Amino acid sequence: MKIAKKVLNLLKEVEAVARENGAAAYLVGGPVRDLLLNRGNLDLDVVIEGDAAQIAKSLVDKKGGTFVVHKRFGTATVTLKNGIKIDLATARKEYYGRPAALPTVEFSTVIEDLYRRDFTINAMAIDISKKQFGRLLDFFGGEKDLAGKKIRVIHDQSFIDDPTRILRAVRFEQRLGFKIEDHTEGLIKASVKRRMLEATGKERLRDELILMLKENEPGRMIKRLQALAGLGFIHPKLRFTKKSEVFFNEIKKMETKGSEPWLIYLTALLDGLSLKEAADVARQFVFKKNEQERLLEFKKESAGIIKLLKTKGKIPLSRLRRHLEPISLETLLAIMVKGRSRLVNKRISIFLSECKGVALKMSGEDLKKMGLPAGPRFKRILDAVLDAKLDKGFKNKAQEMKFARRCVKNGL
Ligand code: CTP
Repeated sequence: MKIAKKVLNLLKEVEAVARENGAAAYLVGGPVRDLLLNRGNLDLDVVIEGDAAQIAKSLVDKKGGTFVVHKRFGTATVTLKNGIKIDLATARKEYYGRPAALPTVEFSTVIEDLYRRDFTINAMAIDISKKQFGRLLDFFGGEKDLAGKKIRVIHDQSFIDDPTRILRAVRFEQRLGFKIEDHTEGLIKASVKRRMLEATGKERLRDELILMLKENEPGRMIKRLQALAGLGFIHPKLRFTKKSEVFFNEIKKMETKGSEPWLIYLTALLDGLSLKEAADVARQFVFKKNEQERLLEFKKESAGIIKLLKTKGKIPLSRLRRHLEPISLETLLAIMVKGRSRLVNKRISIFLSECKGVALKMSGEDLKKMGLPAGPRFKRILDAVLDAKLDKGFKNKAQEMKFARRCVKNGL
């Protein structure tokens, strides 16, 4: 097991602070899994047998950074000055009912914390105390499942307790190139049959769905989820078709810098639904207002924009800007895929590189200095100057001002 020096030192510091506060500390969950797999993961999850909030405070007192305490969950998140995040949790007893026979060892509270977790590979801990530093605590065969590339639940109630774990099983399976083992797959199918996903809080499902779409291969994730559980819990008419797969693959090939790619994938996923059906999904899953808007914008605007961008002849930059500036980057990128036209792609690319975000060097202040009273006329004039800047290629403020003066003179 290779621990990066930076992480190693940090863990030692966390432990020292815990010890000073009379608490024991263990690295748990995802970071342990990723350490054993030699996959980078800088976000640390630490279980404290003691008061997590107190440790967070002491750690920040010592190292700087900020921390937030979530009282209700007994957890605290520290963000250090270098951006590393440490989640600290007070070890808590599992809340789904106690298993018949837990081994009685000194780590009983950590065991109980681990027992309530989703999969064996996510339920290991590393003791980071000075005496035992680096000792792996693996009560459920996580190390063996890492070696055998298996996603396995710890107990049979797991998907009943928390059906969002069905999405998590797929996410880890596809991310790591593992396989959901047969018994676990059987439990998923049983839970799907009981329509557990339909009975689960939509907001929690939404969060897991977003995480899936943020992975490297969202298309593979959704395809597998459909095969295993269907997508009816999102919308009864939703299908991930060959067409959806092509849409996803095309998005993956694009440069998506500055956008939220998961939203483009979700747009692609909902492409087969009507506007009303997609609006139902957006509302029921309580996406944020600006996410809902971007999701539905594609349905409302894409046909009109594609038609405009396919017109022959020249489209001045100012006209491109007027039509495309109000459209989100996610929608524009989705349109580039959907338009299936070199001309559409070229024009959107031109808009993105030459118009989007272009601002004037002059401002309303300059118009005031010209003696113009503030009012709606300002916006008209500045808009006209911006159009001219794009179409005529103004390079400096003097050119803008000259054009503005002409607008004023012409009574715009
Ligand atoms: N967990 C769980 N059931 C859930 C969500 C989380 O048991 N429905 C547990 C898992 O043990 C997981 C830990 O809580 O390892 C932390 O959750 P999260 O940060 O979502 O998982 P990571 O394993 O850290 O995943 P990632 O690598 O995607 O950050």
